[in-house]
Amino acid sequence: MRSLLYSSLLALCGALWARAFAQAAATQKRSVPPGFVTTNGRNFELDGKPFAFVGANAYWLPLLNTERDVDYTMQQIQASGAKVVRTWAFNAINETELPSATETGLTYYQVWNSSDWVVNDGPQGLQRLDYVVSSAEKHGLKLIVTFGNNWAAYGGIELYINWIYGAENATHDIFFTDPAIIASYQRYIKTIVERYKESSAVFAWELVNEARCTGDILSAGPNCVPGSNTLKTWYSQQSDFVRSLDANHMITAGGEGQFFSAHPAEYWFDGSLVSDYNFNGQAGEDFAGDLELPNLDFAGYHMYPQTWYPELDFPGSNFSVEEWGLGWISDHASAAAKANKPLIIEEFGVTGLQNKTDIYPSWVQHALDTGHARVMPWQFGVLGLTEDGGNRAIKYSDQIFRGASPNDGKTHSTLTRHKYGISSQRLRVFKANALDSH
Ligand SMILES: *[C@@H]1O[C@H](CO)[C@@H](O)[C@H](O)[C@H]1NC(C)=O
Ligand SMILES: *[C@@H]1O[C@H](CO)[C@@H](O)[C@H](O)[C@H]1NC(C)=O
Ligand SMILES: *[C@@H]1O[C@H](CO)[C@@H](O)[C@H](O)[C@H]1NC(C)=O
Ligand SMILES: *[C@@H]1O[C@H](CO)[C@@H](O)[C@H](O)[C@H]1NC(C)=O
Ligand SMILES: *[C@@H]1O[C@H](CO)[C@@H](O)[C@H](O)[C@H]1NC(C)=O
Repeated sequence: MRSLLYSSLLALCGALWARAFAQAAATQKRSVPPGFVTTNGRNFELDGKPFAFVGANAYWLPLLNTERDVDYTMQQIQASGAKVVRTWAFNAINETELPSATETGLTYYQVWNSSDWVVNDGPQGLQRLDYVVSSAEKHGLKLIVTFGNNWAAYGGIELYINWIYGAENATHDIFFTDPAIIASYQRYIKTIVERYKESSAVFAWELVNEARCTGDILSAGPNCVPGSNTLKTWYSQQSDFVRSLDANHMITAGGEGQFFSAHPAEYWFDGSLVSDYNFNGQAGEDFAGDLELPNLDFAGYHMYPQTWYPELDFPGSNFSVEEWGLGWISDHASAAAKANKPLIIEEFGVTGLQNKTDIYPSWVQHALDTGHARVMPWQFGVLGLTEDGGNRAIKYSDQIFRGASPNDGKTHSTLTRHKYGISSQRLRVFKANALDSH
């Protein structure tokens, strides 16, 4: 049975894609090998034809440790009608975690060996990612491959800070400026890019998930402030670096899409006027400015008003999750149109089945009306994984939990759109904390 969600998203899309393509601007485009997706003005193209899609977020795919479960998941994604899958190409652990990682079968790509990151290209390491890429090829799916994580989960970027920079009072943004850390990040992503650069299953490389000046452990330093362009400078260096390794695949930033506005929105909260973090540049992103970078081929953004504005979202409040989302969609559409680049809502979600039913159609419709033509709900889930009942070990922060194919309250699948498990409840709390950390 197809999920109602995916069927209705596809139905909506079908009706409106044609219009989106009619607006395609003729700009210079890269000539790429057959089967590679590229950009043409505000649209994507595959083999000279417009390429529009509903996508799936499934960061946990390489954490599955049987080939059967990977293939089964890909099959479900394919059956849902989704064409693009976003997944993590990072998982770093400490040497001290190695015994439990080995015992639980945890996927890890890098381990810190007391003096450096060492790549694990064995069967519990990059060979798992190899299988995901080959399964995507087999199922005609394309992957957004993400190199790192702003958050602590799965060995995020703060592990680099802790090990390489190491100073007692380090701030989160050191990751974006310290030369030794940048060299280490580049060494790792070079390994990934060179491993898969011939594959047409790669849709795009993504520099980092949800970069911000601040993390969920370390705070922002005094040099990562509105107007400092710390992230833009880093995006520029890293996108140029990836382009130097791979002339063909697209590159995207991976950010949440915060704006740096000279006159940021404000709202009343508890008797005082609060400057809106999504618009005042404090996050570090400058969505419109970053889009000027020549090697960022397209834009993506995320959308979680329910968790971003919990202080405004209560019974009797005039704040509406749906309304806020519509405005966020319009704002990004305008910026992407100005930059003449394609745009993806790369993650969006609300908790609650009724909320999804009420809100998603209007968000997706508005996205299509404003020329997006590709949407990726957070996140895809499957039932019927065999290994440990689908209850795979994953690493969050410096602890290992169980729960791949996690339900974080925003999950849906082709079989069922909701599935609540204890480990996933836990995950939801972490995700919410991460998002609420400002
Ligand atoms: C750690 O890995 C690096 C790079 O592979 C290597 O040069 C070094 O000798 C290793 N150190 C230890 C303590 O294993
Ligand atoms: C792993 O590294 C992080 C960062 O240095 C540290 O906070 C954590 O305690 C380490 N965990 C283990 C199990 O060694
Ligand atoms: C870290 O910050 C504390 C408190 O400000 C200060 O006393 C200490 O000297 C700092 N340590 C380093 C290594 O800068
Ligand atoms: C909610 O109501 C207040 C008071 O009338 C108003 O200032 C504010 O703009 C409203 N907020 C929204 C999101 O409409
Ligand atoms: C639905 O959304 C409302 C408003 O954000 C929220 O209060 C409620 O908890 C959500 N329902 C579920 C089941 O998550």
